[in-house]
Amino acid sequence: MNYLDRNEYNFTPSAEVIEAYKHFDPKTLGFYTRIYDEGKKSIFSVYLAEHYGIDESQVLLGYGGEYLLKQVVHYFLTMTGNNRMLIPKFSWWYYQSVAAEVDGETYQYPIYENGDTFSYDFDGLRKALKDVKPRILLLASPNNPTGNCLTPEELDCLLAEVPNDVVTYVDEAYASYVNEDSSYVKRLVDKYPNLIIARTLSKFYGLPGLRMGFAFVSKGMEKFAKFSNVYLGYNRISEDIAIAALKSEAHYRDVANKMNADRRMYENELGALPGFKVYRSAANFILVKYPIVLKERLQQAFKDEDYKVKFMNEPDLNTHMRITLGRPEQNRMVADTILRIAKTEA
Ligand SMILES: Cc1ncc(COP(=O)(O)O)c(C=O)c1O
Repeated sequence: MNYLDRNEYNFTPSAEVIEAYKHFDPKTLGFYTRIYDEGKKSIFSVYLAEHYGIDESQVLLGYGGEYLLKQVVHYFLTMTGNNRMLIPKFSWWYYQSVAAEVDGETYQYPIYENGDTFSYDFDGLRKALKDVKPRILLLASPNNPTGNCLTPEELDCLLAEVPNDVVTYVDEAYASYVNEDSSYVKRLVDKYPNLIIARTLSKFYGLPGLRMGFAFVSKGMEKFAKFSNVYLGYNRISEDIAIAALKSEAHYRDVANKMNADRRMYENELGALPGFKVYRSAANFILVKYPIVLKERLQQAFKDEDYKVKFMNEPDLNTHMRITLGRPEQNRMVADTILRIAKTEA
């Protein structure tokens, strides 16, 4: 089966990651990490602190970005009597679900189709902040499934308008595809009092099975940082592999460049088909609008070829499919399958 439905990684890991795995000494697993004696969480949080120039106490680790999100949502929606969270209209389905786990209420702010991509509606977001008075504002950049992102400058301008009693969670699961310069992360967490910027090893670094996410929090958020921390340490194999992955940026940049080439192939080839639209995306997936009459035939054709892509079902996004960018031969197969079905219809 070719899985192109969950924005996973169909390429090889870097040589450094393979080495870290091969050379891991299992005897290490006989012990908890001792790094907490130095008041630190993990060799990985120490590495991240140096890499991003942010104090280690402001670095959090989690079992994937998923778990950091869960911690933030559960903690802040249950602590103060305000259980409201603002999320983008089109977004990762899990945001609503994780809030519902603690009876949190989610409200949507607008994202709109803007030419060949989607955009945040800043006025709509300002209005929603006033009307809803949320405890948490969730921003995702790049956003899943629309693929659009905020520039660091846009993010800064927006944050300047967020009231101080609102915690802003910026889901940057896909950010490494866009922002090679991450210096804004430090700038923003130093500047704003209630900010969490979360990233993961699951997308750009191709390790969703490692379950390793990390986040940076503002200085004033020690209480939450303490809540999030586990004092006996993190998975010791994951720590080693995560560091190796961050050290092999060039390998993963190369993979991202291959994805970019095929992104253009999709834009050119599928974008030219009647009734189809390929949205500009900054992440490892593309969103494609297709004529709804083709849905069943497309689904059957993918099944016959042993491919999985995601057919969207949410309101206003139900004649769309999200396709993970895979290896060139996989992308070719997906494009050819769609071309074949579209041409039989014509
Ligand atoms: C927008 C977004 N955030 C976070 C995640 C979580 O990834 P992980 O828990 O593997 O870090 C995903 C996974 O698909 C995602 O799409």
